Amino acid sequence: MKRKIVELEQTFSLSEQTLLNIRDNFARAIEAKNQGLSNIPTFIRTASGKEEGVCLAIDFGGTNIRVAKVSLSNKSIIILRQQKIELQETGCHSLEELFMLLARILGEFAAGEKALVGHTFSFPVEQISINKANFLHWTKEIKLTVPVGTDINGLLNDCLQKQGYDNVQVVTIINDTVAVLLANSYLGNNIFIGTIWGTGHNSCYYDFVKQMVINLECGNFNNLPATKYDLQLDLASQMPGKQQLEKQVSGRYLLELVQIIAGDLLVSAEQLSTARDLSIYLQANKNDDLSHIIRIVIKRARQIISTEQAGIIKFLSNKLNMCSLSIGIDGALYRGFEDSETVLNNKTSELAKRTVRFVYAKDISLGGAAVSALLTR
Ligand code: BGC
Repeated sequence: MKRKIVELEQTFSLSEQTLLNIRDNFARAIEAKNQGLSNIPTFIRTASGKEEGVCLAIDFGGTNIRVAKVSLSNKSIIILRQQKIELQETGCHSLEELFMLLARILGEFAAGEKALVGHTFSFPVEQISINKANFLHWTKEIKLTVPVGTDINGLLNDCLQKQGYDNVQVVTIINDTVAVLLANSYLGNNIFIGTIWGTGHNSCYYDFVKQMVINLECGNFNNLPATKYDLQLDLASQMPGKQQLEKQVSGRYLLELVQIIAGDLLVSAEQLSTARDLSIYLQANKNDDLSHIIRIVIKRARQIISTEQAGIIKFLSNKLNMCSLSIGIDGALYRGFEDSETVLNNKTSELAKRTVRFVYAKDISLGGAAVSALLTR
């Protein structure tokens, strides 16, 4: 291997001691609600598995927005129909414009019938109740205009009304990590942590005392070592200094990070144009400099996610005196790298000093939105 790649590997390597320190700091950050964490109450419990019916669901993540008609029965989640919209391709400049579009799709899906809608909205909010969350700021470099403090579901319900869809009502608003936890509880999987490793990154956990899911917004954890490349990426971003953990692990940023490193090391990265290309490139099994750069960046991302999960487990450890534990996970990066499950299982178990298993289920953000909507009946 060339010297510059060996040096890069050293720059990005996190010693076992560093990982343990991050784990402990993370656990303390949850306790003290500092180091960038928010601990947002969600006003939602887990599901009983008895929820049944058909409703509509929205998954407003980062790159895509999906609207679906979902059926829940006998602990199974079935997507009856869905439509995917690429945010960039809508040409919308404001959230209201986008919601007018979503309202039209929801109205068509409802086809004149009365319909409840569960909304997975995956951005920082001030959550007031299960149906009311006020917008704080965008993450994942989204640029739609929306005033701070906007009641997200209030705006969406207004857009439905304006188009005469009085039969459709948005009744819940939840984060995608919460959707993972909720849908898994509906499916009968015994999990207390939900996490997303996709365009963005975040985790939530079930608080046994408050009997409520807590959204950590931990993409904003800010006590991590950073390389000169991370600093360069951060400076060029929409919110320098914010979402530091997310910038080291998530799909919205890893492509850019790889490109910055490749530029510095005079390695061509022209073949890569989306985050998905990172996994596609590795699958080709080329043993070139670019593959080494991608591997180094992905390795660190997985170590950080494992450490963070071990931190959450450490925080919960008084309440979870079981020796093995499952974490619900979803996201394009998790799905994109074939060995994610094994690597995350092993590293997290090692750092948490107990057996940890990541559980993936398809269409979980839509499923979670549907579960939340039917919970309100
Ligand atoms: C958002 C979180 C979300 C995560 C995963 C982050 O950028 O702030 O709310 O859960 O992305 O989609």
